[in-house]
Amino acid sequence: MKKIVSTIIAAALITTIVGCGAKTETAAPSTGAAAGGAKTEQPAAAKKPVIGVAIYKFDDTFMTGVRNAISTAAEGKAQVDIVDSQNAQPTQNDKVDLFITKKVNALAINPVDRTGAGVIIDKAKTANIPVVFFNREPLADDMKKWDKVYYVGAKAEQSGTMEGQLIVDYFKAHPEADKNKDGVLQYVMLKGEPGHQDAELRTKFSIKAIEDSGMKVEKLAEDTAMWDRVKGQEKMAAFLAAHGDKIEAVITNNDDMALGAIEALKAKGYFKDNKFIPVVGVDATAPALKALEDGTLLGTVLNDAKNQGKATLNLAAALAAGQTPNKDNSGYEVTDGKYVWVPYKKITKENMNDAK
Ligand code: GAL
Repeated sequence: MKKIVSTIIAAALITTIVGCGAKTETAAPSTGAAAGGAKTEQPAAAKKPVIGVAIYKFDDTFMTGVRNAISTAAEGKAQVDIVDSQNAQPTQNDKVDLFITKKVNALAINPVDRTGAGVIIDKAKTANIPVVFFNREPLADDMKKWDKVYYVGAKAEQSGTMEGQLIVDYFKAHPEADKNKDGVLQYVMLKGEPGHQDAELRTKFSIKAIEDSGMKVEKLAEDTAMWDRVKGQEKMAAFLAAHGDKIEAVITNNDDMALGAIEALKAKGYFKDNKFIPVVGVDATAPALKALEDGTLLGTVLNDAKNQGKATLNLAAALAAGQTPNKDNSGYEVTDGKYVWVPYKKITKENMNDAK
């Protein structure tokens, strides 16, 4: 009797350790007919692969959209165990170690620090667990370390170019936006975290697109607000204190910072009594679409969380099944044998339904 009880406890323990894989494990020995018969087969649902997903931090508006898209895409296909790396690479590495101990079938990792991907690849390769990175692109040299390493993301330069075009279109249509009539666009820039490909390239390519249109620009101020709405508001308040109405446009690397900037601008009397200033962002989050509708945000760029999440899950599921991801088994074109690029789209009030 004692033995049976301890077997049951041991089985239950294994089940708990496996966590989300609970249904994939045979728990306590079955009773009744099944126990004696040969029919110990598990239901089909129990054979779903387990995918360990680590997000750089849960408290990020856009990544929450990607996280939800991964969960939705997993329905009926895979069991996802999604964890919060709390914006610390060492924490993420510990979570990856745990996934490896649990013997998940594939990993989907949104690195905290993109240069930290190399260490994760080494761990995954040793354990022979394929890995799909997403949103934060590992360095090319790290991507080459193993053939079971993939990346799902969007071309950051494309989003920067689109933001710049939104500004150009506005200035072409509204010559009065050049408030001091000097023929130069005085702007301020709010950046995401330094070193992130989206922060660096959106900053560079938004300005390049404006200059490519023949317009001259002058940067009044630039600072990082770490993708964060509250920080965006604080930095914009500081820009306004230093430059006031000399600022003719606000370019930001994402919508949360743009929305923060809009709050600071509202506090200075903007967006009423015909006092307008163009503010652009990236992501097309729900609050940003609301701001487009309200007429405070000039434009944004759809960062397609739904397709990025779905592609990540589909690639991980194909890899977990021992397949090489391709268009047929993942639904997404795989470029250079390793990359899935989800396109961006320019969004203004006119076409905002495309982003809903
Ligand atoms: C960007 C996105 C930002 C932020 C960041 C996190 O693609 O535009 O809002 O979520 O990813 O890595």
